[in-house]
Amino acid sequence: MTTPEPQFRAHWDGVYSQRAIDKVSWFEATPARSLEWIAATGVAPEAALIDVGGGASTLVDELLARGHTDISLLDVSGEVLELVGKRLAERCRFVELIAQDVTTFHPSRTYALWHDRAVFHFMTDEPGRRGYLEALLAGTHPGSHLLLSTFGPEGPTRCSGLPTARYDADALATALGRSFRLMRSELEIHTTPGGAAQQFLHTHFTRE
Ligand SMILES: C[S@@+](CC[C@H](N)C(=O)[O-])C[C@H]1O[C@@H](n2cnc3c(N)ncnc32)[C@H](O)[C@@H]1O
Repeated sequence: MTTPEPQFRAHWDGVYSQRAIDKVSWFEATPARSLEWIAATGVAPEAALIDVGGGASTLVDELLARGHTDISLLDVSGEVLELVGKRLAERCRFVELIAQDVTTFHPSRTYALWHDRAVFHFMTDEPGRRGYLEALLAGTHPGSHLLLSTFGPEGPTRCSGLPTARYDADALATALGRSFRLMRSELEIHTTPGGAAQQFLHTHFTRE
């Protein structure tokens, strides 16, 4: 197992040790849209799913409650994975916790569904984007679903002290390249716990 880039690991460990999980800007009480879109893909309960940069999201808990039995949760922050591991307790037997930087992740298998809410937009330089895309290609197969949510064209340019990229659906499709076909996209205004409005782009791609 490779160790996450120390500066990003330290940054995100710091975020999770200093802020309550329901006070971070991306907090959502229930990941309703993700659950709805995952269900709409029709992936089987035993299919391999990965939540990349899943943080403290309760998506994993909700998927377990819906009968999913092969879930991986990858995050650069060991702190947050420890927190989620404690929360899941014995339900962890259905979940692989992977403490890695996605940009240097070498998946040992492919996933039927790759979920990313608010992580890809932190890849603001070419090496970061390239590393992410290599992991994405290695971790998916033809027919895999990609549910990717980033800041929209009018979304924030920074989050948690880091610069962020903004995408419309065409720009995201271009960034992902020809291996992924855009099936659906939607813009949404997310309200942070502090009351600020953030534009998000939600997309569903399939791997060609
Ligand atoms: C904005 S939060 C989103 C968390 C979660 N997806 C959600 O919607 O609640 C970004 C998450 O991505 C993780 N992260 C940031 N950069 C990463 C990287 N290069 N590799 C893996 N995880 C990363 C952070 O630790 C954090 O948990």
